[in-house]
Amino acid sequence: MADVQRTLSIIKPDATGRPGVVGQILARFEEAGLQIVALKKVQLSEELAKGFYAVHKERPFYGDLIKFMTSGPVVVSVLEGPDAIAKNRELMGPTNSEEAPAGTIRGDFGTDIERNAAHGSDAPETARVEIAYFFNASEMLAPVEAVPA
Ligand code: RTP
Ligand code: MG
Repeated sequence: MADVQRTLSIIKPDATGRPGVVGQILARFEEAGLQIVALKKVQLSEELAKGFYAVHKERPFYGDLIKFMTSGPVVVSVLEGPDAIAKNRELMGPTNSEEAPAGTIRGDFGTDIERNAAHGSDAPETARVEIAYFFNASEMLAPVEAVPA
């Protein structure tokens, strides 16, 4: 049986800026069997965006990426379900929206390699770190086995 996992999703400023798109993306998560166990809309500060994408700080696109990620609000969520990490990345499609097939989030709502509508954690360890970067325990549903009887 598939592992139940949690993953961090960010609906990026290009998508939050288009009417109705946040709801359509969240619906895709739910329709695919991913439960939303935490959710908020925030305007990222430059500091928060830089910290989140610190892994890319030597890359040529880092400055543009920070400008983009702070250009408007983002919708950050924690998704839970069987193979949630891979499932979310499958729903998003490849990084470059121009190469992402129709029916994927990036194919349908993104524009190019940078303005690609959504972020999703890429591995269990990055998911754990990214979830803790945005949410504390009181802002997130407890795992089922941790709820007292
Ligand atoms: P993400 O982290 O946002 O889920 O995207 P990803 O794993 O598919 O791609 P990654 O390599 O981690 O890149 C992070 C984000 O940086 C922007 N990017 N721009 N101009 C460029 O060549 C370029 N390459 C990447 C994208 O917004 C990408 O999602
Ligand atoms: Mg990435």
